[in-house]
Amino acid sequence: MAEVIIVPDQATAGELVADAIQALVRHRPDAVLGVATGSTPLPVYRALGGRGLPLDRVRAFALDEYVGLPEGHPESYAAVVRREVTDPLGLDPARVRVPGDTGALRTAGEDYEAAIAAADGVDLQLLGIGTDGHIGFNEPGSSLASRTRIKTLTEQTRRDNARFFSSLADVPRHCITQGLGTILEARHLVLLAFGEGKAEAIAGAVEGPVTASLPGSAIQLHPHVTVVVDEAAASRLALAQYYRDVYAHKPEWQGL
Ligand code: GLP
Repeated sequence: MAEVIIVPDQATAGELVADAIQALVRHRPDAVLGVATGSTPLPVYRALGGRGLPLDRVRAFALDEYVGLPEGHPESYAAVVRREVTDPLGLDPARVRVPGDTGALRTAGEDYEAAIAAADGVDLQLLGIGTDGHIGFNEPGSSLASRTRIKTLTEQTRRDNARFFSSLADVPRHCITQGLGTILEARHLVLLAFGEGKAEAIAGAVEGPVTASLPGSAIQLHPHVTVVVDEAAASRLALAQYYRDVYAHKPEWQGL
């Protein structure tokens, strides 16, 4: 089962996950990170930024990207990754890929898969979760074996993400995302969620049946998953007390 860590606030979550990334990079200076966008992973990037880690040999792959935004649009995930991750962390942008960044959409999925494979896979994949249970942009119904491909966003996701755009009409209808099968090949998955709005999706992902109807539940198929949630996002977890006990008695040598 996933290790579920319930933390008091987002800053604590950020420090905890930054510890895991720091340990990874110390052990493997050319580590491959899977970076996520959205507001959820921001505390991790902030915590990492304060540590001055040597990241010059690290490579990174983003999970997903909108399709159809004008080049350089500030809400494209390429721009968000640059603003929130590469610039503040001093990561060389040439070592960071975003799906679809080669321009040729028809072959972008295969290209991205090949690039991840050439990098020998992702060591640690950060994940947020949508209120409908999506990870990356794998909307409900996505095959558990899916690979990087073009998808159509649900209305719920478009509404959720409209806050980043001037109006709902400006939110793209299409995206390109790593598939669930792609994500499951990363060696360590770290899923973060904060707030009451994510409680149902988290309960489904961690404790519900494994189903394409709730793509986040695919994490149950992975042998090394860490779920870091605040009290509100943990509020619908039936086994919350057990997770607290497990974490309180976790052997120190274990790490995340
Ligand atoms: C977006 C992204 C996901 C992200 C999710 C949650 O649509 N494609 O990668 O995890 O929605 O976003 P947020 O963290 O802002 O709640």
